[in-house]
Amino acid sequence: MTKPPSWAVVTGAGSGIGAALAIELARRGCRPILVGRRAAALETTRRSLPDPRAAMCVPCDLGSAAARAQLIGRVSAAIANEGGELRYLVHNAGVGPPSPDLANMAAGDLEQALAVNVLAPLVLTQGWLPLLRAAGGPARILLIGAGIADRAQPGTGTYGISKKAQHRLFEQMLVDFAAETANTPQVAMFRPGVVDTEGLREHCRLARECGLPHVDYLDGALTNGEARSGETVARAMAKALLDAGENAFNGQILKTGDWHTQAHASDPESE
Ligand SMILES: NC(=O)c1ccc[n+]([C@@H]2O[C@H](COP(=O)([O-])OP(=O)(O)OC[C@H]3O[C@@H](n4cnc5c(N)ncnc54)[C@H](OP(=O)(O)O)[C@@H]3O)[C@@H](O)[C@H]2O)c1
Repeated sequence: MTKPPSWAVVTGAGSGIGAALAIELARRGCRPILVGRRAAALETTRRSLPDPRAAMCVPCDLGSAAARAQLIGRVSAAIANEGGELRYLVHNAGVGPPSPDLANMAAGDLEQALAVNVLAPLVLTQGWLPLLRAAGGPARILLIGAGIADRAQPGTGTYGISKKAQHRLFEQMLVDFAAETANTPQVAMFRPGVVDTEGLREHCRLARECGLPHVDYLDGALTNGEARSGETVARAMAKALLDAGENAFNGQILKTGDWHTQAHASDPESE
């Protein structure tokens, strides 16, 4: 009997880590569902897949409650129509611009970061829980975290506070799912390290404008090759998501170095 196709939702799939991950998951046999605001960027990712027709693009502003509700309905209906199971949910979309100091940290930026980095992962998980529970094997949820959650640095409040809250959401998912007995999804967090993406480069540009000290470290990582490529990180993420046993996945904070395939010896190894 042929296995039903495994769908994998990847948010923020129009660029950076999310785009690379969608491509890697498709190479490994999943059918990606690409989510992000820019329809053209999602299309570009879709055209890079081994079989673009096997994927779907669902443009959505994850900061909007109405758009999130529409996304949940559209994806649920599409899977019911196409067949297969929702097996993987990757909450990769992330925002949080720097500010020169606390006095100039925009409340609207924090609201947006909390909506995209924390509320959206909660609401999408809730919305698709029936599908995740119905998958033939345990479904897997992956949150993309960041080390900044544990290291307050000047000007990084918006990003750092939201990533810390996202970490607490991860812990909440774990304890609430642990109290269940059947058809429970497994949850992990992935901290990729420094990755050369358009998001990181834009963060560096803004942080430089704000005169923030941590930009020197990031600039250095981007110029001396210490920053990983999205593709390297995506290979590690896909390996953890698809190949890890339950104990190696559920409840773990996963790092690129631990799941790094040796295929690209020149890739930096440090976290
Ligand atoms: N790069 C790093 O060094 C690094 C390190 C640690 C963690 N991370 C995390 O990795 C994840 C991916 O980041 P990245 O570096 O690949 O940056 P990126 O290229 O900027 O990717 C972020 C993605 O999120 C999407 N997005 C932003 N706001 C959205 C919204 N309101 N609704 C829907 N989608 C939205 C963006 O697409 P649209 O603009 O089209 O919506 C974009 O494709 C983030 O969670 C980030 O915090 C990155």
